[in-house]
Amino acid sequence: MKNDIEEVLFSEAEIKNRVSAIAQKLAVDYKHKDLTVIGVLNGSLVFLSDLIRQIPLPVKIETIKANTYSGTSTTAAAETEIIHNINANVKEEHVLIVDDILDTGKTLSEIIRMLTGYNPLSIKVCVLLNKRARREIEIEPDYCCFEIEDKFVVGYGLDFDNRYRNLPYVAVLRDSIMVTPKTL
Ligand code: IMP
Ligand code: MG
Repeated sequence: MKNDIEEVLFSEAEIKNRVSAIAQKLAVDYKHKDLTVIGVLNGSLVFLSDLIRQIPLPVKIETIKANTYSGTSTTAAAETEIIHNINANVKEEHVLIVDDILDTGKTLSEIIRMLTGYNPLSIKVCVLLNKRARREIEIEPDYCCFEIEDKFVVGYGLDFDNRYRNLPYVAVLRDSIMVTPKTL
């Protein structure tokens, strides 16, 4: 797997520091508030699990699944499939959506639209990465670990064709790997 990497953008240590810093900020901002953290699967699974263990508050955890990507291209917002079992109880809660990356903004805006219908006390967005250059829908993260350029990255939950999520750092793949999605 290491041979497939062109460049490491954010090391394990750098990620750890930023995740701790964001968790400390959340601990202050949500002190004495009922917080439900909603992780967007699959991309947020590594970030989510590290982040929640650093938040010293009795938060509730939920996950929702958003299928928007295949290979390296997004599909139209209309095709974004959101699978969840969020219910009316969330109206008593502040909600923090956790995702791997804010790219075009289509996925998170769809998720916010869906959650708004449940009328929670507040809705905020926390992402590992912000790829502002690709934004199509006006949306900014409330909490973000790193800004990145318009590069396709993998690792720490981010995938190419559902692989490389388990890399402990964020990296750019070699061009030769990106040409065709692996089938094996
Ligand atoms: P959106 O374009 O903001 O809707 O982002 C949709 C999803 O695309 C994200 O949640 C990621 O799962 C995926 N994505 C966007 N950019 C990258 C990338 O550089 N690497 C891997 N996945 C990405
Ligand atoms: Mg993804």
